[in-house]
Amino acid sequence: MTTRPDAEERFYDFVVVSNRLPVDSVVGGDGRQRWTQSPGGLVAALEPVMQSRDGAWVGWPGQADLDLEPFDTDGMHLVPVPLSALEVEHYYEGFSNDTLWPLYHDVIAAPSFHREWWDTYRLVNTRFADRTAEVAAQGGLVWVQDYQLQLVPKLLRELRPDLTIGFFDHIPFPPYGLFSQLPWRTQVVEGLLGADVVGFQRDADAGNFQQAVRRLKGYATKGSHIEVPLVDTSPGVRVYGPIKRGQASRTVIAKKFPISIDAAFYREAAARPDIRARARQIRGDLGNPKTIMLGVDRLDYTKGIRHRLEAYGELLAEGRVNPEEVILVQVASPSRERVLSYMQLRDEIELTVGRINGDYSEIGHQAISYHHQNYPRDEMVALYLAADVMLVTALRDGMNLVAKEYVASRFDSDGVLVLSEFAGASDELTRAVLVNPHDIDGLKDAIMAAIELPARERESRMRYLRKRVFENDVEKWSSGFLHVLVHHHAIVASASASASAGAGADSSSEA
Ligand code: G6P
Repeated sequence: MTTRPDAEERFYDFVVVSNRLPVDSVVGGDGRQRWTQSPGGLVAALEPVMQSRDGAWVGWPGQADLDLEPFDTDGMHLVPVPLSALEVEHYYEGFSNDTLWPLYHDVIAAPSFHREWWDTYRLVNTRFADRTAEVAAQGGLVWVQDYQLQLVPKLLRELRPDLTIGFFDHIPFPPYGLFSQLPWRTQVVEGLLGADVVGFQRDADAGNFQQAVRRLKGYATKGSHIEVPLVDTSPGVRVYGPIKRGQASRTVIAKKFPISIDAAFYREAAARPDIRARARQIRGDLGNPKTIMLGVDRLDYTKGIRHRLEAYGELLAEGRVNPEEVILVQVASPSRERVLSYMQLRDEIELTVGRINGDYSEIGHQAISYHHQNYPRDEMVALYLAADVMLVTALRDGMNLVAKEYVASRFDSDGVLVLSEFAGASDELTRAVLVNPHDIDGLKDAIMAAIELPARERESRMRYLRKRVFENDVEKWSSGFLHVLVHHHAIVASASASASAGAGADSSSEA
């Protein structure tokens, strides 16, 4: 990765705004700063989009108190937004990941509500909007990403009404019964309605958002369209109810755009001789077991790792799975390590892994091969190729791109995907072995079915899954979203141009 400071500031026609930049500044054990690829599906999905467009990416470089000049890397122009240590604590770890994240994921963990976290969330969202307004060209296109920045669309529209603004929510949008717990629910909805198009992963998410709009603002929704009055939206002014006759309004589109991956990258990487050799080596190093099962997740309570381990532990205890023939490889990449619920989860998972290994591992063969680490993408592809069964047992997940990466890597049309029906990916990947991870007996049966699935059935299912993933890749996601955004903006612009032409004609006749 090469980086160079970019002294002269340009204006960009296309700007992506997300909490994280695609590269993360980390300080190693030797005290030296270096860049790594940022964690998570958002960055993985947006990186190829940005590399193919000459745009700017506004985001946080991943380390507190790091104030950097804009710089270029891997064909992308990055505009860092600094956060102080206290802002990281209140905005990122606090409001984003200890209030919104659990609230938006079915309250699997209890959300915490703190007023000072909300104040910092507003402040940081304002900083992101200000920085974006500085780099976006006149009439440019801005695409804001995810739950950390829900206030940015409205703030940005107030600063720069010339911009076309899109927002994409990568995580679920909760049903109103849960969303309504949020003390600042109305401000969040108003923030999102600042966008021209608000994108979601599933129909259910878009429906939940529209319901929140109806309940909190009283605006009418029809299909994916929401009519928002053009009125004073300054703080304290509360507008409620549908548009009155003759009242000026703008239309916001809220609909699903399921995100995906750079599928061709995975197919090509998996076909490479070095990666195939590495996959064989992994199998060999694991003792060439009959079945390798694989889990790959950020270490997050939404991913259902505990349920997966419980099911696997019971299968071992009941003798349905022979530890000499089967191994579970669990990659749990470090995540949000200073948030209490994540610390507790890590302790719980590692205790369980230790117990299962203590009870069922032999010298030279483990029941679970556990890795609290990040691996480069090539190594992940080798793992996908080596794995007979992929376990994705999320309790709630916006999409889950790991499921799609596994499918895209299986150019041999082999391997079985066990997929939670609570992951967005299950809407498309309907021929995976679908599971309800809360139903431990059902999950055990699904794991056994996956292990025992005959070769012909594996192939026919995998071919179907691959077709879906290759038809809907990340390029289709981004161009689909941006097409709707640009098209919608053009309609709105021509409608307002003809309205003002009409107004002009009136005034001249008066004169
Ligand atoms: C999910 C979220 C992203 C986030 C990623 C990693 O994919 O949707 O917005 O960046 O997790 O989490 P982190 O807190 O490390 O950014």
